[in-house]
Amino acid sequence: MEAFLPKKDGYVVAVIGATGAVGQTMLEILAERNFPIAELIPVASSRSAGSVVGFNGKDYIVQDLETFDPSGVDIALFSAGGDTSTTHAPRFAAAGCYVIDNSSAWRMDDDIALVVPEVNASALEMARTNRIIANPNCSTIQMVVALKPLHDVMPIKRIVVSTYQAVSGAGGKAIEELAKQTTALLNGETPEIDVFPARIAFNVIPQIDIFLESGYTKEEQKMIDETRKIMGSDIAVTATTVRVPVFYSHSEAVNVTFSGQMNADQARKLLAGADGICVVDDPASEDYPLASEAAGTDFVWVGRIRDDYSFPNSLHLWVVADNVRKGAALNAVQIAEILIY
Ligand code: A2P
Repeated sequence: MEAFLPKKDGYVVAVIGATGAVGQTMLEILAERNFPIAELIPVASSRSAGSVVGFNGKDYIVQDLETFDPSGVDIALFSAGGDTSTTHAPRFAAAGCYVIDNSSAWRMDDDIALVVPEVNASALEMARTNRIIANPNCSTIQMVVALKPLHDVMPIKRIVVSTYQAVSGAGGKAIEELAKQTTALLNGETPEIDVFPARIAFNVIPQIDIFLESGYTKEEQKMIDETRKIMGSDIAVTATTVRVPVFYSHSEAVNVTFSGQMNADQARKLLAGADGICVVDDPASEDYPLASEAAGTDFVWVGRIRDDYSFPNSLHLWVVADNVRKGAALNAVQIAEILIY
């Protein structure tokens, strides 16, 4: 693949939403992976403009997105919500900057690349002209990373997924809400409900995002549409997305039907050698992926791999990943790495 950006010792990188849950993790991951940075510019709303964020041991002053001039920025990592991306990403792209957008604003646009590096890096070619690249939904990313190595060997016909999603997927305020509600309930107080449609502490909510006329939630429809855009529109996909009282890492029960022969042993071997995946699957020692162990890691963890005896050529998988890292910030930084190397 021909380089997207000219070779330089360091690049000008802006992080839009730098004070948020994903933006903060983007900064951490850029530092951890020694991304070559000549200038780092944290950007957020006027609410936090002028405040300070840390990066690589130094303090940086947060800029106000409304008045920020993107000229000279090489790469902008956006994670400040869909409306912000709709308004500002085109302005950054027009100034010559590559935008990697974590919101859902551009994902289903036919001209925009929707990229998971382990799965469809070649889709990035589309970005050479329009310079906006979409990061898929967190639940979609971990599922397609786990399924692509199997799909490459035996095409998938149908996916049925149920998710168990961490509160961090809904941002910093949602993390606080779970902590505060838990504390309130343990102290015998009435918890306040603000971010989620119902109490999340000691509860399970079968609604993520708004309901559509179809009866599906928007999160479910995102998983369906994005999986088909990334892996192929001939795959039937259905989803039930559920919020659980976990801080970090989404878990997913995935049932897959293949177009021909595929069994659990084959799948285990294929996944064990695949990029970005760690297989933990030993029922004898009660070993399987756990949200608590996936949190803070970069892998997509796969376990409970077993044949579905109720239907031919079908498997069950349990797929877990840190939704803020691989599901958002890490995936965006991996895309940025492809742009520069
Ligand atoms: P701010 O701190 O100024 O509100 P989270 O996903 O954790 O809720 O974080 C959202 C991030 O997006 C924050 O950094 C927030 O900045 C930023 N953000 C939200 N709305 C805007 C906006 N209109 N313009 C710029 N940044 C925004």
